[in-house]
Amino acid sequence: MAKSYNVAQLGGDGTGPEVVRESRKVLEVAAKRFGFKLNWEEYDWGGDRYLRTGEVLPPKAADTLRQHDAILLGAIGHPDVKPGILEKGILLKLRFELQQYINLRPVKLYPGVETPLKDKGPEHIDFVVVRENNEGIYTGAGGTMKYGTPEEIATQLSVQSRAGCDRCLKFAFELTQQRKKKNTLTLVGKTNVLTYEFDLWERAFHEMGAAKYPNIKREYNHVDACCMWFVKNPEWFDVIVTNNLFGDIITDLGAMIQGGMGIASGGNLNPEGVSMYEPIGGSAPKYTGQDVINPVAAIGAGAMLLEYSLKETDAAAAIERAIMKTTAEKMKSQSAGKMGMGTRQVGDTVAQLVADGI
Ligand code: IPM
Ligand code: MN
Repeated sequence: MAKSYNVAQLGGDGTGPEVVRESRKVLEVAAKRFGFKLNWEEYDWGGDRYLRTGEVLPPKAADTLRQHDAILLGAIGHPDVKPGILEKGILLKLRFELQQYINLRPVKLYPGVETPLKDKGPEHIDFVVVRENNEGIYTGAGGTMKYGTPEEIATQLSVQSRAGCDRCLKFAFELTQQRKKKNTLTLVGKTNVLTYEFDLWERAFHEMGAAKYPNIKREYNHVDACCMWFVKNPEWFDVIVTNNLFGDIITDLGAMIQGGMGIASGGNLNPEGVSMYEPIGGSAPKYTGQDVINPVAAIGAGAMLLEYSLKETDAAAAIERAIMKTTAEKMKSQSAGKMGMGTRQVGDTVAQLVADGI
C-alpha cells in the first residue's frame, strides 16, 4: 500500500493562503509521481478568525497539530491586529508548544535569481542557518517598572539553557556532516558583550565538537561581523548556528542575498516531533488576492517538509530542481508583480516540471 501522510494546512493571513495553495499543488504532483499520498486538513487560524471570534488559537491547537505528520504554514500577521498578538499568540506559541527548537533557514542563490551582491553567483551563496527557536530573548522573560512614567524601566531577558544549546548544536553538527560541503560549522554570537549567554554557547559548542565531531571545523563570528561577511564573502559559510534573535536578524539579510523574501523558505523543526514549514517573508497584506505574490518560498518550504518530516527525499529533490529551472528559465524576477507571470502560473510551472519527470 502507498505510504500516506497527514499534513496540516495553515494558510494564515494576507497572501499566506495563496502561496500555500501553490505549494500544495506542487506537493500533490510530487506525491503522485513518487507514489505516496497526502491527506490535508485545513485550519483557518489567523487574523480574520481572531477579529471574528476574539480567539487567537483554539485551546487544543497544539494537540490537534500533534496528530499530523507535518504542518505547512503560510504567514501570520494582519494589518488590523495590533503587532505582537498574532505573532506571539499563534506563531511563537506553536513553535514553543510543539518544541520546534530548530529554525532551519537555507540561504541558497538559485540560477537566474538576481542577488544584490556584486560579482556573486550561485557558486558563492549556499549555506544554512540553524537558528535556536525556543529560547533566548523570545521566552518573554522580563517586565516593566513605573510603567508610563518618565522613570519607566523595561527589561527583556535572554534565557538560554545548556540543554537548549546542546540539542541545537547537535542538530547543527549532524547537518554539517550530512551536507558534505565545507565541513565547517560557524557559531555566531557576541562573546565580547553578551558574556554570560555566549560563554555558555561557546563552551557547549567546543565541548560537543571536540568530543563528538572532531572532523568538523569549528569557526566563530561575532554577529555584527557575520553580517559584514554575508555581504562581502558569503562563500565562506557552510552551516551557521546561532541564538534565536541573531538567527532572526541574519536570516532576513540572508534572504536578501539569495534574491528576496519571495524565495526564502524555512522550517521550524522538532526532530523528535511535528515540524512546521513556512515561507519566511510574512503576510504581505497589500498584495492579497491579486495573484502577484511569489509562491517560490512556500513551494520551497513544501520541499523542506518532504525532506525533513516525511523523508521523501527524492520528491523533495525533484521539487528543488523544478524550482531552479523555473527561476533560471521562466521567471523574470522574484519580486511581487514583476515575475512575468502570476502566482498561480508559477505554481503551475513548477508542478508541470515535477510531473514531467525533472
Ligand atoms: C520570523 C519572524 C518572527 C520571528 C516574528 C513574526 C515573530 O520574524 O519568523 O523570522 O521573529 O521569529
Ligand atoms: Mn524574522
